[in-house]
Amino acid sequence: MAVPVAIGVGALAALYAGRRFLQGPRCTSTKSLKGKTVVITGANTGIGKETAVDLASRGARVIIGCRNIEKGKEALKEVQERSGSTFVFLEKLDLSSLESVRNFADTILNSEPRLDILINNAGVMACDYQKTKEGFEMQFGVNHLGHFLLTMLLLDLIKRSAPSRIINVSSSAHAMGSQKINFDDIHFEKTYSAWGAYFNSKLANVLFTRQLSKHLEGTHVTVNALHPGAVSTDLQRHSVLSSIFVAPLRWYTFKSAEMGAQTTIYCAVSEDMEGVSGKYLADCAIKEPCKGAQDDDAAKKLWDLSVKGLNEIPEEWEQHGTGQKGVPGILKKFCPHKGRLLCFLIILKVSLAVSLNPFVLLRKKKKNKAKKVLEDLSQSASKGKNDRSEEEHEEEMVDTRTPAEIAYDKIKEKRAAERILKKAEKTHKQRVEKFNDYLDGLSEHYDIPKVSWTK
Ligand SMILES: NC(=O)c1ccc[n+]([C@@H]2O[C@H](COP(=O)([O-])OP(=O)(O)OC[C@H]3O[C@@H](n4cnc5c(N)ncnc54)[C@H](OP(=O)(O)O)[C@@H]3O)[C@@H](O)[C@H]2O)c1
Repeated sequence: MAVPVAIGVGALAALYAGRRFLQGPRCTSTKSLKGKTVVITGANTGIGKETAVDLASRGARVIIGCRNIEKGKEALKEVQERSGSTFVFLEKLDLSSLESVRNFADTILNSEPRLDILINNAGVMACDYQKTKEGFEMQFGVNHLGHFLLTMLLLDLIKRSAPSRIINVSSSAHAMGSQKINFDDIHFEKTYSAWGAYFNSKLANVLFTRQLSKHLEGTHVTVNALHPGAVSTDLQRHSVLSSIFVAPLRWYTFKSAEMGAQTTIYCAVSEDMEGVSGKYLADCAIKEPCKGAQDDDAAKKLWDLSVKGLNEIPEEWEQHGTGQKGVPGILKKFCPHKGRLLCFLIILKVSLAVSLNPFVLLRKKKKNKAKKVLEDLSQSASKGKNDRSEEEHEEEMVDTRTPAEIAYDKIKEKRAAERILKKAEKTHKQRVEKFNDYLDGLSEHYDIPKVSWTK
């Protein structure tokens, strides 16, 4: 009798130990996030929700971006209750609509003076062929492109809050499939594989991380990608086969959502991750991503494609793509839009003069010295005339911006004007009163002094 009991106890202990092992490590950092602001996408369920609970418990002000407001409200309540914090807020964010991404970013830019941690967590896996509002294949559009735009729109705020961190939730699935971005058929219009598109989008997360880390060198903003593990969440809702075959094993072999959030939390708070950027992590440790995810050319190409796909082409975003080479590239980089033609002529003249006679510059310098005295005298007399001709010259100058650049400049002006108008809707007094009302409405006692209004 004693032997079978011992075998049974041993088997149970082994099962328990196996399960503990499969759950992976916990983030052991006890770092407080008081005074810090965090944005998490797709936090109404799964890994995102657990991450929100943990970071809010550490004192952070947490904003969760959710596409479904009803689901979002339930999650908000749960996150507030479990973390014991009321500084958790919900905003609408549908990553399959670039307009929604822009509105969400605007809300953050208008309401938050800082952003210390951005967690690009939301994701869709192996869904039937669908397109985003702008016509991108859904998984590429949501998992990569929506997050790309969101990150770029919030980047200035993140930089101003440095040291700050960006975290892209990728997957070990980035290493599956061809390990190549489907550049030839980015909308998957020729052939569509639900899993192939998921692998593609998760590879894009790692390549984007790699390229963005170069863009952010010297800014004290870090960016890392991670695999959370195989986690028991709703992610498999679109995959019937995987639900049937994996479900029986899921309860045992998969991590709980709480444990699946540990690597994200580690990237967000761990002291070990200070200054670490451009890496890929799993189980709270740096790991090597697949070869395809270390391809710098592919990373640049993806950057270019993402910028162009968004039809928003600020030059500072472009400069880490493949970029234009040669004289057009130099002109674009160093000359203002309006002065490009003039710059081009000057470069042409100097290079012709130097190539024809290398001493021409030296000779010109001597000659110029003698000329200068005469010029100084004549300049004061002809100043009025020169001013006029300069103005005329300015008017004659050709606007060399591309249509996309002109469109972007217009959007930028419009959005800046909208932002100013939105801010001007309320006076400082009204804002202070609203904040005090909010404090009055808190059900629990928080020791927050009310703000007094001064003119
Ligand atoms: N679970 C795993 O085993 C596993 C493994 C590797 C990587 N990951 C990655 O981990 C991340 C989180 O996944 P999870 O496991 O927590 O899955 P989940 O429970 O399904 O959560 C995904 C979240 O993304 C949101 N989302 C989907 N489409 C969106 C859109 N268009 N706009 C805004 N939000 C959208 C979902 O919102 P709704 O609830 O409204 O749909 C949900 O909040 C994903 O990026 C996933 O690729 C997960």
